[in-house]
Amino acid sequence: MMFKRLAAMAMTAVLGAALLTGCGSSTDSTSEAPAEGATTAAESATGAVATSTVPTVTEGKLIMATNAYFPPYEYYEGSEIVGIDAEIAEAIGEKLGLEVEIQDMEFDSIITAVSTGKADIGLAGMTVTPEREKNINFSDTYATGIQSVIVTEDSDIQSIDDLQGKKIGVQLSTTGDLYASDDFGEENVEKFNKGNDAVMALSQGKVDAVIIDNQPALSYVSSTQGLKILDTQYAEEEYAACISKDNTELLDAVNGALAELKADGTIQSILDKYIVTE
Ligand code: ARG
Repeated sequence: MMFKRLAAMAMTAVLGAALLTGCGSSTDSTSEAPAEGATTAAESATGAVATSTVPTVTEGKLIMATNAYFPPYEYYEGSEIVGIDAEIAEAIGEKLGLEVEIQDMEFDSIITAVSTGKADIGLAGMTVTPEREKNINFSDTYATGIQSVIVTEDSDIQSIDDLQGKKIGVQLSTTGDLYASDDFGEENVEKFNKGNDAVMALSQGKVDAVIIDNQPALSYVSSTQGLKILDTQYAEEEYAACISKDNTELLDAVNGALAELKADGTIQSILDKYIVTE
């Protein structure tokens, strides 16, 4: 069982390396002469602040699909959606001359919304997986995540193997769901629409553990009595934005913007503002 998750991790690492390589070569305009009149990723990202030429669902807008129950990546502050992904979208929008509009939906609907042209970009602490890549393009990665296990303070569950035969709560269609269903059997996995519903079920004794990304886990545990996070890490992951396979111009522009925002320290300062270190 552990082998499977390690294999998934190795695959993600290879993928990450491939993405990094892809990023390097797409901005290196000296190695290959672009066709006449072609716009390179770097040009469209840097030169488009005033008049955006990047095609989007609604002209002048960057519609972001997310599921805003995932602190600190996206969550409500009053009626406003804030967090790491909201700020990264804002910074990308600024680079591309696009006004960001956030649409909150079930996590399970994000890839469909983006691939069917209802939204331009999915930003949702979304893990890059080979399965998802069949339906959607991922940008270069902007953060890493870990799948953590939350249990009650008095739980007898101490390791991943102890989850065998227990009821595990997850958010529907997240990697926590996919891994847990795979490793412990669909019949042992309780799927919730929101991560915090899974955590609520745990504190009410309806499930024995919750598998969820480590930063939301830290946030939920600090705001809920009687819960703790296991020391063991279930899986390591990379987060990226998803963009329709039909809009490679937007993908190139977003990667160009991300490269600049990484280089000038913007991404790191957004992460530092929200990320809790244990
Ligand atoms: N990283 C996990 C995944 O991609 C969970 C993401 C959940 N995000 C959210 N905004 N609810 O499957």
